[in-house]
Amino acid sequence: TIGAAITAVGGWVPPYRLTNQELEKLVDTNDEWIRTRTGIRERRILKGEGQGTSVMATKAVEELCQKRNLDPAEIDAVICATISPDMLFPCTANLVCEAVGAKNALSFDMLAACSGFIYALETGANYIRSGLYKKVVVIGADKMSATINYQDRETCVIFGDGAGAVLLEPNDEGLGVIDAILRTDASGKDLIFLRGGGSAHPMTEESVRRGDQYFKQDGRAVFKHAVTRMADAAEQMMVRHGLSSDDVAYLVPHQANQRIIKATAERMGVDMSKVLVNIDRYGNTTGGTIPLCLWDWETTFKKGDNLILAAFGGGFTWGSIYLKW
Ligand code: ACO
Repeated sequence: TIGAAITAVGGWVPPYRLTNQELEKLVDTNDEWIRTRTGIRERRILKGEGQGTSVMATKAVEELCQKRNLDPAEIDAVICATISPDMLFPCTANLVCEAVGAKNALSFDMLAACSGFIYALETGANYIRSGLYKKVVVIGADKMSATINYQDRETCVIFGDGAGAVLLEPNDEGLGVIDAILRTDASGKDLIFLRGGGSAHPMTEESVRRGDQYFKQDGRAVFKHAVTRMADAAEQMMVRHGLSSDDVAYLVPHQANQRIIKATAERMGVDMSKVLVNIDRYGNTTGGTIPLCLWDWETTFKKGDNLILAAFGGGFTWGSIYLKW
């Protein structure tokens, strides 16, 4: 069978840094609470009228093309994992194709919240495995600041903006996306959601007054599910492939909370020195977290390294991916 290997990584975060100290001026919070409860020191915010998620995703894909010396016209498919598309349609991936000049690609967005990137990565890998597609771009990007109520201290301290992207190409050396465990359970639909603007909840003056345009979550309830399900999926993957903690070179977890990351690593028996953490610098960028980790640590990975990617988020959605670098 044909493998689907990651052959290039791109990323982009906006220059503006929203620090904990600045948040102290907006809501009743403090740097110590945010650091100890979440691990976050600052997050990036995309400023500017009319600047949406596609702006960041485009920069990530441009970098990836540059690194691989790839003509965007050669790209066969672009998949963008996001919950903050520029608009309901056209989709964000569609806008990125135009911006980078991917004239011969199909494109669509994937909506699986914080698990979006691993859902999209497995989907992209399947296009490659089919033998019909040779170059598939998978993006994880979110402008979470567009969905956040900056008077709600329970969410505004957590989220940030950013984008990462990878290129998948066929591989016959056994490298790439080896396996995926992806799950979904809508019993979480009232614990983490953004209702406004959806077809069941069109925007009205009344819905705006209610705050339906904002991201909402019951953090404490979501936390419990996140810890067990992310760890379950990661552990299950190790068992399925007979991987010991020594066999795992790196755990690449979704960056929702430093405490969730630690709990997952502990359950897997993986030392924190092998766990990629950049939540301190970017906060939770939803679709962006995992590809931004790959972007930050790309030069550290060695060919053939075993990576376990794991995520949990809105839906609920969760899962893990076993990737050979
Ligand atoms: N600053 C200061 N105090 C705060 C803040 C804040 N920003 N936010 C909440 N508090 C207070 C609460 O009011 C509460 O006070 P009380 O004890 O007087 O009632 C106290 O701090 C503790 O609140 P908890 O909600 O229990 O805090 P917790 O330790 O659970 O941390 C957090 C909250 C960070 C949201 C955590 O629950 C979490 O990370 N949850 C999981 C989030 C997640 O994984 N989401 C899914 C991914 S996101 C996606 O899919 C898009």
